[in-house]
Amino acid sequence: MKRSVKAFREAKGGRIVMVTAYDYPTARLAEAAGVDAILVGDSLGNVVLGYEDTRPVTLDAIVHHAAAARRGARATFLVADLPYLADATLDRALSASERLLKEAGADAVKLEGPKVAVMRGLVEAGVPVMGHLGLTPQTASQLGGYKVQGRDRESAKRLLDDALRLEDAGVFALVLEMVPAPLARVITERVRVPTIGIGAGAETDGQVLVFHDLIGVPGDFRPRFAKRYLEAGELIRAALSAYAEDVRAGRFPAPEHAFEMDEGLLEGL
Ligand code: KIV
Repeated sequence: MKRSVKAFREAKGGRIVMVTAYDYPTARLAEAAGVDAILVGDSLGNVVLGYEDTRPVTLDAIVHHAAAARRGARATFLVADLPYLADATLDRALSASERLLKEAGADAVKLEGPKVAVMRGLVEAGVPVMGHLGLTPQTASQLGGYKVQGRDRESAKRLLDDALRLEDAGVFALVLEMVPAPLARVITERVRVPTIGIGAGAETDGQVLVFHDLIGVPGDFRPRFAKRYLEAGELIRAALSAYAEDVRAGRFPAPEHAFEMDEGLLEGL
């Protein structure tokens, strides 16, 4: 996909591939693999920074990691999350977006929840905004934890209404997280912007996965909705153990890893 909001919008009805990346090497590999878009999500807090949830993630941290990801994937559409409370007012959201777009080189920002007025203000100011409904981790405790959202008729209707309100506010795309597949299908049919699902079934316009869930790092967390394509956690652990054993047994470094010189030059030193 071309690196533009227009191309993203026009991918409605297709199968957009999005993955998170928080650093240069991962973003480089994601671009080489031909993904359509990279998300520098605030899942950074859980999978890279070791926090219990996403709320401690700062704007500085997202800017820092988004800039690194951009250096690794200059041709790929890159979306960065506004961290918790950076979107509490339009003023704060505007200055946070300015940093993400100008300093980090993001193409768009993503905001969680039905923050219609803030999102409308950002769009009017020229900021490309991606919405995020369903399970919104920044406010998971208000939603009763990390649970599927929209399971009864009333909350399903609320989610659909919120999706339509975000579309009206001008979002160019919408992430649907942990929403029952039939509801995600209905929302996808009713909005004109692409929907990107995570734990939302196969009938959205695209999918996003957290990179670390996809490759199994560190390996002890297995969300039901994520498919694991690699047991990298296990491979990395085995490689580190082999390295430790080699050092302790005197097998590393071997002569081929060392630099030689004329030892005569050292005489009398
Ligand atoms: O932060 C993140 O990685 C996200 C995805 C789970 C959609 O918001």
